[in-house]
Amino acid sequence: MLERGGLVAFPTETVYGLGARADDAAAVRRIFEAKGRPPTNPLIVHVASIDAARGLALRWPDAAERLAQAFWPGPLTLIVDRRDGTVADEVTAFGDSVALRVPAHGVARALLGRLGWPVVAPSANRSTTVSPTTADHVLSTLGGRIEAVIDGGATGHADGSKGLFGIESTIVDVRREPVRVLRHGAIANAAIGAHLNVVSEADLIADPAERALAPGSHALHYSPKARLVVVAAEHVFDEIITRRARRQCVGVIQREPGTGFDHLCERLPREAAGYAACLYAALHRLDAASCDAIVVEAPPSGDEWLAVWDRLRRASATAP
Ligand code: TXA
Ligand code: MG
Repeated sequence: MLERGGLVAFPTETVYGLGARADDAAAVRRIFEAKGRPPTNPLIVHVASIDAARGLALRWPDAAERLAQAFWPGPLTLIVDRRDGTVADEVTAFGDSVALRVPAHGVARALLGRLGWPVVAPSANRSTTVSPTTADHVLSTLGGRIEAVIDGGATGHADGSKGLFGIESTIVDVRREPVRVLRHGAIANAAIGAHLNVVSEADLIADPAERALAPGSHALHYSPKARLVVVAAEHVFDEIITRRARRQCVGVIQREPGTGFDHLCERLPREAAGYAACLYAALHRLDAASCDAIVVEAPPSGDEWLAVWDRLRRASATAP
């Protein structure tokens, strides 16, 4: 199906990706259509090996090599200068740079290892909805728009040694040093900082009108249908009572052990990796229960929570 230009979703260690041949412009255009994604938002190219990635780059900076050796296969995406004539122009939104990733998930590796060409794989959800961590999540927004999904079970699992799984990859622009983190993700800043000097751009792009380097950093990404509010632990109870008094159906997301709301309450692991791995599935379940609002107990601050905070902030953003 992929070879013939079809769209096939498959699991990665972060979220399910919607795959298409990166060298087939028509297939790539179908990805934008199926997701309802603006053509100005470029896609990540997935390949089987560091060698294959190098082949798509015009230059392969030292920083790229160091991070690739440290984190690939794994939940890291590198932005490098693009080599002409490798992937379709639509992949990079007709830009000079390209986003590259070597995923670690067994199914993704088996698939990419058998193909002789690179595969674009944005998260397999309609634009602005919550990213999928199961095959059912994929079908809930893309069913009828794609050829197939390879069901590899839930993607989200925590692996303390390899970072947070179940949220999207960390995107790092390695074209110049210090390298820049464009999207907080599965690999924390500190882990990257152990190899190179790094600055975080993800926090700086605030203006949604701006054509951002990483459009994934725009607000209104990853949004559940329910209104999502993040409140300090001591205000969770009041927030729920107030909303239920207004006859809202209220879901709750807390960290374990939680304080005794049993109805529509999702309790996520206390530590960041486990929490991140379960977050999207919890949002999907509360959305499926038709909640009007989801009250989230604010998680701690700190570097390892940056990616989680980033997703919560976007999910709680409202349309201007
Ligand atoms: O974990 C992940 O990265 C998942 C799995 C499926 O691999 N994929 C994913 O793709 O999250 P997507 O399309 O949902 O997000 C891709 C992000 C977007 O924010 C996009 O703007 C950014 O990567 N991006 C792609 N190419 C870029 C480029 N050349 N320069 C800067 N940002 C780029
Ligand atoms: Mg996405």
